[in-house]
Amino acid sequence: MLSHEKILQKMDTEKLGQNVIYLDETDSTNEYVKKIAPDSPEGTLVVADCQKSGKGRLGRNWSSPHGEAVFMSFLLKEHLIPENASMITIVAAIAVQKALSSLAADVKIKWPNDIVLNGRKVCGILTEMKSSGLESQYVVVGIGINVNNQSFPENIARTAASLYTETRKKYDRSDIICNVMKEFEKYYHLFVEKNDLSGLMSEYNQCLVNRENEVEIIGKSETYRGKSLGIDSYGRLLVQRCDTGMTESIVSGEVSVRGVYGYV
Ligand code: BTN
Repeated sequence: MLSHEKILQKMDTEKLGQNVIYLDETDSTNEYVKKIAPDSPEGTLVVADCQKSGKGRLGRNWSSPHGEAVFMSFLLKEHLIPENASMITIVAAIAVQKALSSLAADVKIKWPNDIVLNGRKVCGILTEMKSSGLESQYVVVGIGINVNNQSFPENIARTAASLYTETRKKYDRSDIICNVMKEFEKYYHLFVEKNDLSGLMSEYNQCLVNRENEVEIIGKSETYRGKSLGIDSYGRLLVQRCDTGMTESIVSGEVSVRGVYGYV
């Protein structure tokens, strides 16, 4: 069972995740953090056992059943440069990859920030930013990890997996939450030091699914194929086009990138 005490006991960070709010149920942990952001300290972490309206990217829902998965969001307020905030999602991806790779072999990152295991998605990250007015800038990093889920709703059953479905082992969710926070703190320091991803991009690229392989880039105006070369220090995916041989820098949110054989 997940609890406030268990999470606090195991938290091994310097600053982030030192203030923990645990909820049996909420609409969305990202929404909760946004509400408390003005009066909460840096790194405040909200964890819920279940979400009634879990939010995914692009306005999608995030399946959030009771007792099985991790739903966590935390607040960043210090050291923020609005133009660089989108890179925080890359920092979160490498942190989750590192936290999960001690539990299951072959955990990979699908650019920019899906975590996949055996070709299926086990974790999604939703980073939201408030940047209007210098006083009230903040970023909320929301992470959903499928941990002990035994099955998934029909609409995602083909592409989703949990650590349990892939390894047939059950995991303590508080260990995973605390490992993610510890890894995030480490990589976030590297990011803040340089104000870009140069300190961690090579580690990220080592875990990138389809690196050096052919991918399909689906943009608004065109779809093309190319070789994925990895990210640059701003988190853009470099892809060498098959048709022209030119290297494109792809910005997340503008296109979707898929393997040539399906989701991954
Ligand atoms: C995605 O679509 O891949 C992103 C999913 C993010 C889900 C997490 S669960 C915790 C936090 N609260 C939310 O409502 N969403 C994020």
